[in-house]
Amino acid sequence: MPNISDHPIGIFDSGLGGLTVAAALHKRLPGEDIIYLGDTARVPYGTKSIQTIRRYALECALFLLKREVKLIVVACNTASATALPTLREILRAPLIGVVEPGVNAALQLSKSGRIGVIGTPSTIRSGAYQSTLKELAPAADVYGKACPLLVPLAEEGRLDGPVVDLVLKGYLTSLKRLRVGTLILGCTHYPLFKRAIKRVMGDEVSLVDSAETTAAAVEDALLREGLLRTHGRGGIKCYATDIPRHFNRLSGLFFGERLGRAARVTLGDAA
Ligand code: DGL
Repeated sequence: MPNISDHPIGIFDSGLGGLTVAAALHKRLPGEDIIYLGDTARVPYGTKSIQTIRRYALECALFLLKREVKLIVVACNTASATALPTLREILRAPLIGVVEPGVNAALQLSKSGRIGVIGTPSTIRSGAYQSTLKELAPAADVYGKACPLLVPLAEEGRLDGPVVDLVLKGYLTSLKRLRVGTLILGCTHYPLFKRAIKRVMGDEVSLVDSAETTAAAVEDALLREGLLRTHGRGGIKCYATDIPRHFNRLSGLFFGERLGRAARVTLGDAA
């Protein structure tokens, strides 16, 4: 009988952004096999309704469960903020989202208690970050800002240059005026803009990228469940729901090293 701890970890996002979380996980737990699913046919999620995002997230999770993953990482803030409770109600597999790890990291870093959160329109509208922060730190001042143009820019590999600077200035100037000391990058695509964001916000602002804290939360969950794989060297297998060629061209940028080619899959009944 194969040991469940030898099963892979499943990770999904609407596109390439979740590879920033996959990279942190691979670094922290090199023995684990990872199956990554990018729902590139339907990216972006962040401008869609909650009902639609929940349906997409459920289809992604079911696809991964069919591949016998032992735990699922919802490496998408939009899906974590809007669909995680529904997924937890329906599925029995352990599920880890990215919102709580991001909030914990921000609270550890914040000195002034003035915390900004940037994310997709659905993430910001859901209030998930704002309410979790307020619950854990009632005295904190929390400011949310939706940045809908950043995901399309990232999915095109446009991470720097005058267009990016202009877009970021438009989104971030109000947060800078509010003197936020800590800024949560509440979208797994945003860590790629760290340099450009620092240029607008200034070096003194701490940027919170939930990739590492999410990887730590996964390690804790696996340890708790007795599912940590400690031997061998894990690999990563990628799937994309459309144009894997585009995924393959940019995946190294998000993961930090070259990845094998992604296979194309269709979600829903055929998953
Ligand atoms: N990278 C995702 C997130 O963290 C999704 C972005 C999108 O599809 O709009 O929110």
